[in-house]
Amino acid sequence: MPMRRAKISVIGAGNIGGECARSIAMKELGDVVLVDIANKDKPELHMPKGKALDLACCGPVENFDAKITGTFDYKDIEGSDVVVVTAGVPRKPGQSRDDLVAINAGIVKNVALNIKQHAPNAIVIVVSNPLDAMVYVMWKATGFPANRVMGQAGALDVARYKTFLAWELGVSVEDIQGLLLGGHGDDMVPLPRRTSVNGIPVTDLLPAEKIQACVDRAKGGGGEVVKLMGTSAWYAPSAGTIEMVEAIVRDKKRVIACAAYCENEFGVAPGQKGQGLFVGVPCVLGANGVERVITFPMDAEEQKFMNESISHVRDLIGVTRKLLPDLG
Ligand code: APR
Repeated sequence: MPMRRAKISVIGAGNIGGECARSIAMKELGDVVLVDIANKDKPELHMPKGKALDLACCGPVENFDAKITGTFDYKDIEGSDVVVVTAGVPRKPGQSRDDLVAINAGIVKNVALNIKQHAPNAIVIVVSNPLDAMVYVMWKATGFPANRVMGQAGALDVARYKTFLAWELGVSVEDIQGLLLGGHGDDMVPLPRRTSVNGIPVTDLLPAEKIQACVDRAKGGGGEVVKLMGTSAWYAPSAGTIEMVEAIVRDKKRVIACAAYCENEFGVAPGQKGQGLFVGVPCVLGANGVERVITFPMDAEEQKFMNESISHVRDLIGVTRKLLPDLG
């Protein structure tokens, strides 16, 4: 019997969505459906179809066998195993991720209702910003179990952190292990204590101020790109997203920092059932989505940073709830 190929839908066929589709095809993770609403009002144009056509023609050169289609119609996401959500506006210079909430909250809610209707069994990875609040909207509006809703942020933040450390140390990026937790903002939580070069603690290799400089650059890495390009990054955000898609589709049980639902974990909302939120934590990602959140003891300073980050995410959810009073 032929093996069924995974179906991966990408909502938002812009910079991140297009690059995600390309990586999915190049890694042959499954067939791709690109959904967008751009130019929907201009009958002579069809942006998602055009982008899918362009991408499909990479196949003979890149040697991939993956079907890539583009559509305005959410019905075409039916049967998706994974849905990646990149719909929304990106940052412009001078904007923080939080500044996007007024526009993106409504967009993500609309996308969520369409996913609920047309792909009720999918695992959803949200990429739209402000990330942690948008994952919350996705969870509330779909009503999906928390293991099937997550956000891409940690994979990117950690990638930036590792890149800057590798440059500082003059070693390969492949040999850096590290983690950053918390919300996808300037208050993400660094863990230099848990960062190593093939097991050698980075704290033995670099002075504290050099490590801190790498942490700070990782925190502001998105803003640095926005300043240089006039819009937000897309290559590294897509790479982080596809790392997650691959872990799920291939049931790899990878340990990746992602925005996952927490209550008791890391002091998010201890003992408060249903009052948790999504924040960056190390997760085991496999065929069932977020299969487990890995917890470990934090020291007092790490916990202090984590508490600040959690409280920022909670404030942003408050803003989002005001914008979407019927979110539930
Ligand atoms: N349904 C489908 N697509 C939508 C919708 C919607 N309701 N609303 C907007 N879009 C599409 C836009 O038409 C656009 O093509 O989302 C796409 C977003 O693409 P870009 O503008 O290129 O933005 P991108 O850089 O890909 O970032 C997307 O991810 O990391 C975040 O901050 C970033 O919120 C931003 C999002």
